[in-house]
Amino acid sequence: MKKNIESIRSDFLEKVNQVKSAQEFEALRIKFLGRKGFIQELFSSMPNINPKDRPKFGKQVNDLRKEIEKKIEELKAKFIKKKSEKILDTTLPGRMPFVGRKHPLTQVLEEMKRFFLHLGFSIADGPDVETDYYNFTALNFPENHPARAMQDTLFITENILLRTHTSPVQIRTMLQEPPPIRIIAPGRVYRRDTPDASHSPFFHQVEGLFVDKGVSFADLRAVIQEFAKYIFGEDIHVRFRPSFFPFTEPSMEYDFNCIFCRGKGCKVCKYTGWVEISGAGMVHPNVFKAVNYDPSLYTGYAFGMGIDRITMLKYNIDDIRLFFENDMRFLQQF
Ligand code: PHE
Repeated sequence: MKKNIESIRSDFLEKVNQVKSAQEFEALRIKFLGRKGFIQELFSSMPNINPKDRPKFGKQVNDLRKEIEKKIEELKAKFIKKKSEKILDTTLPGRMPFVGRKHPLTQVLEEMKRFFLHLGFSIADGPDVETDYYNFTALNFPENHPARAMQDTLFITENILLRTHTSPVQIRTMLQEPPPIRIIAPGRVYRRDTPDASHSPFFHQVEGLFVDKGVSFADLRAVIQEFAKYIFGEDIHVRFRPSFFPFTEPSMEYDFNCIFCRGKGCKVCKYTGWVEISGAGMVHPNVFKAVNYDPSLYTGYAFGMGIDRITMLKYNIDDIRLFFENDMRFLQQF
């Protein structure tokens, strides 16, 4: 019997060094430690052993089992991978990491800021949630002006609303600082509109305000024209149309020619050849009065600029809603 135990041990020690794969390892384990394996066979032969030799025999078999178990355990680490290691297949081809980038509106806004900072403008800021006073009253909107009507403005309470334009930042800035003032104020604005290709209930404007002694309408036209060239190149044409805003006098609206279709007519310019950018004008004396500036000493110009429109024109985007849908297929193109 002793001989049998020894031969099983040497058999195991020889085979254990030859194992080369997980399958071979598993076969070896079953052959020696399995339910019908050699160790179990030795235990099963117990009844045939002379009773006085049994304790000794039992101890020898147990020792051998422990020795084999220990070796098998050591070998296991080499051949049987843990679950987490199994899914990490280092031979698979890599996946391209996704590189984020700036939203097209942010990119264009940064370009706009660069232009105005270069001209000596600084950047001002105001809240999206405004009061009726800053959004309308201080800007010389008469009490019953249609722009205050419910269909345009998103009211929160009777006096608190989502700003419909960035012009309230004019008031906030002038109340804080004496003239001269030279600021731009970019931000989001809100209007009660049904979304379609050219309307969104929120969009983005850059407000501009320049107040000093002797600021003229010609200065205003020049800054808009130079801006258009900076963004779109020398070929751009700007069209000024008389208009009305309660807070400017005279007032105008201005358009850029549709550089995309070069005036032939397309979806972006609604087949007119022109894209409306926003309004502008000379600061109304009543606005100066509301902020305690002396209208006999100072003049100023103000303008709005639609960032979304400018971006659509620059990149030939024919639907404003694309900016806000966060579709990676769209955003990745910029
Ligand atoms: N606030 C106006 C609008 O949103 C644009 C504007 C700005 C007009 C400044 C004149 C002066 O439509």
